[in-house]
Amino acid sequence: MTDIESRIGQLRNQLEYHNYRYYIEAEPIITDAEYDRLYAELVELESEYPDLLVSHSPTQKVGGQVRSEFETYSHSIPMLSLDNTYSEEDLRAFHQRVLKNLDVTDVVYSVEPKIDGVGISIRYEDGVMTRALTRGNGERGDDVMANIRTVRSIPSRLLTDAPPAVLEARGEVYMNRQDFAELNERRRKNGEDLYANARNTTAGSLKLLDSGEVAKRPLDAVFYTSGEIIGIDLTTQDQLLTTFREFGLKVQRLKYNCSTIDDVIASIADLDLRRSEIPYDLDGAVVKVNSFAFQGALGFTAKSPRWAIAYKYQAERAVTTLRAMTVQVGRTGVLTPVAELDPVSLSGTTVSRATLHNYEEIARKDIRVGDQVEIEKAGEIIPAVLRPLKDQRTGKEVVIESPATCPSCGQPVYATANEVAIRCTNSTCRQQVIGRLLHFGSRGAMDIETLGESMANILVGEGFVTVPADIYELTGDQVTRLRAMEGLGDISVNKLLQKIEESKRNPPWRLLFGLGIRHIGAKAARSLVIHFGDIEEIASASIEELTNVPEIGSIMAESVYEYFRDPRNIEKLLRLKECGVQTRDTAVTGRSDSPFYGKKCVLTGTLSGITRDQATEILLQLGADVGSSVSKKTDLLIAGENPGSKVEKARKMGVKIIDEEEFRHDIGPA
Ligand code: IVH
Repeated sequence: MTDIESRIGQLRNQLEYHNYRYYIEAEPIITDAEYDRLYAELVELESEYPDLLVSHSPTQKVGGQVRSEFETYSHSIPMLSLDNTYSEEDLRAFHQRVLKNLDVTDVVYSVEPKIDGVGISIRYEDGVMTRALTRGNGERGDDVMANIRTVRSIPSRLLTDAPPAVLEARGEVYMNRQDFAELNERRRKNGEDLYANARNTTAGSLKLLDSGEVAKRPLDAVFYTSGEIIGIDLTTQDQLLTTFREFGLKVQRLKYNCSTIDDVIASIADLDLRRSEIPYDLDGAVVKVNSFAFQGALGFTAKSPRWAIAYKYQAERAVTTLRAMTVQVGRTGVLTPVAELDPVSLSGTTVSRATLHNYEEIARKDIRVGDQVEIEKAGEIIPAVLRPLKDQRTGKEVVIESPATCPSCGQPVYATANEVAIRCTNSTCRQQVIGRLLHFGSRGAMDIETLGESMANILVGEGFVTVPADIYELTGDQVTRLRAMEGLGDISVNKLLQKIEESKRNPPWRLLFGLGIRHIGAKAARSLVIHFGDIEEIASASIEELTNVPEIGSIMAESVYEYFRDPRNIEKLLRLKECGVQTRDTAVTGRSDSPFYGKKCVLTGTLSGITRDQATEILLQLGADVGSSVSKKTDLLIAGENPGSKVEKARKMGVKIIDEEEFRHDIGPA
């Protein structure tokens, strides 16, 4: 493989991973600007070496994947993204392309703030909200209408006596800076971990399964474009915004109409100056051709419209001195280098630390202790080190070597083949213990909401916890000591104890995932528990038996097998069981006798007294595979009240349909 090929492969892997963090986990770990740089590098390499371009490259898709807890639907018109630019030159080139394609000499643009929120498409039929889809992968999105209904500024009905037959309003859900700060302040007071930034918190809020929780989040929304429209004639972007406003849909106050490209550039600069007047975060400006006739004539590329472009503001940067290096150790023992900086003001906060990702990156960028470094921050709490200013070197800078021992426990560390990471392999290393405890209590695992970073530090630091099971056996004395600690108090300690107690009744897949076995994610944990019904049986299964489980490949099977060959891990499991944590799935007995076992099921319509998520959970417990749309492979459609078009489709395809009564009968006693 050539260097070029391997760099392309590396970029693709990185972009896919960051897409996953961004779209699926709603928890990106690099800034948008860093992402855009990786992306631009890949685009450039692919255009230079077109033979190396493949259809599955991240540059060839709209981006994102779809999460499955919500019902997903196709967008009537795909939700595309915009081409990004960072320079005036690119804007002028965009303008020239527009003029050339339209064969005109001038054109009117609408320049609007580009708001850094979460895209949404809301469908109103005869003025009534009928669906609210996230962007998803651009083709299909999740129906989050129940959550969207809790957003006060989004009308459930359009404010008009003569609504169009169909209007899909598209825009952005976001949180105001001030509201976000207050939300975090409340969390700080409750001893909970702080959210990293408003955008990710918004994305996470829309994906919550409990709308009651969503209602407590300070969400807001603005609208700026449309999807399908029937029964109303709109001819310009200007008119669209005015009409939206008349219908009671919030639009952005600041916007500019520009008839020359110089005007566009001046407006973007003006908007940049006024950013602080706007109560939410902007990440740039969007320039759109105003006339819809012109928009139609310009059309789309595979990814984005030719009639619009996003101009992204540079993330704020600053230069400061890198004073020292510290190292964080994660739950799997991976060492992450962190730069300790001379405090410097950036985007309104004082920054004194920044991540350096890994040692390979430090070596590649040649970052040294004592260097003047440029740092960047774009919404995140932790900024990143971009580059050293090499021409400012005095010769006293010290090269950063990757460590030979773990800074937390002093044991030797190892570089693993095929990985950039360096690991500490001492399983009693304190930082790893904290990391494992955090993973155990995390939302995807045992979901012990109060067990955040500060609490985990206390529990491990005080010596109360060395393995997760210890939290179920906190002694009276330890609890008294916790209550006496500054910043904790009775309320938060009681809440912690209550959440720990509640977690004992979690379905066992959460525990299995929470153990942190390598390669075993939540989905694999679920499949294993559904198949074996009992974690102890998983622990004693052979590799062959493990590989027999759907979706469990040989790497996963070996990892599970190895994990339970360690007597300490068996002991851990037995202790959790003794503490009363559910290790056996008692929800169902005789699962393979269930009529749903191994069947591909789809739910539609409303069931009485049970949410779709609960019904899905029951089906999964019974060993069914639950999908969101009917296809030839579907075995069974479960149709509640007002089922919609899926029933028709199922009938045509000869898929068996059952109603709620039959469903309740077949799932048997709970
Ligand atoms: S118009 C065909 N206007 O930016 C897409 N988008 O990077 C037309 N965005 O997916 C989109 N502010 O989620 C438009 N004033 C604005 C926007 C805006 C933010 C988002 C939107 C879009 C993304 C593209």
